[in-house]
Amino acid sequence: MQKIIVAIDGFASTGKSSLAKRLAKSLNYTYIDTGAMYRAITYFYLQQFNTNFINKKELISSLANIKIHFEDNLLGQKTFLNNVNISEEIRQNHVNSEVSNIAKIKEVRTFLVKQQQVLGKDKGIIMDGRDIGTVVFPNAECKFFLTATPQVRAKRRYLEQLKKDSSESYESVLANINKRDRIDRSRYTSPLTKAEDAYEIDVTELSLGEVYEIIWSYVSRKLDNRVS
Ligand code: DC
Repeated sequence: MQKIIVAIDGFASTGKSSLAKRLAKSLNYTYIDTGAMYRAITYFYLQQFNTNFINKKELISSLANIKIHFEDNLLGQKTFLNNVNISEEIRQNHVNSEVSNIAKIKEVRTFLVKQQQVLGKDKGIIMDGRDIGTVVFPNAECKFFLTATPQVRAKRRYLEQLKKDSSESYESVLANINKRDRIDRSRYTSPLTKAEDAYEIDVTELSLGEVYEIIWSYVSRKLDNRVS
């Protein structure tokens, strides 16, 4: 069967990556977490320059020294920066706080979009992010755009972090989500926005399983139509 590209975009903490991983498993496709790539560059910057003040020039000139790749193992997908596994580090608070500021830099986006397009050139890919359906793969066969209220998203993230023994309060998680939404939506280069032909799903009142059913039936129909 001919393979397709599925783009899952939307706001932070709407379950994009869990849904994308599950879909990739069902279809035996490759899953790519593009947020992890922006996080890897942010982590690199914070490590290398040890400052939260982002010097764009310095960052842009060091992009050539950044190599990101993914590896799948039994525990899931791992993100590597210059051959070092940084999957845990890129989820830390200092990365959460800075990643939107790094993701708004045009040169960073161009650098990563090129790599994302190469990763998807043979199709058979589920990619989640913010600009997959609009910029990375505007011709993707299936596009989803997930939304939910900031409060519901903050609650989900807060409960997830509690399991990891995080001491961050719900209020602080909510503030971080609001800040990232604002930066992601208002940035000049490829702001977070729904592709015209994307299927928008408001997940505020839906469980992950319910959202998955909606996505699965839409993708199955697309695949059936391609066969007949
Ligand atoms: O999905 P995430 O929370 O891991 O994304 C981290 C940040 O990267 C978030 O601020 C939005 C940004 N991002 C982006 O601008 N474009 C993408 N394709 C993926 C993520």
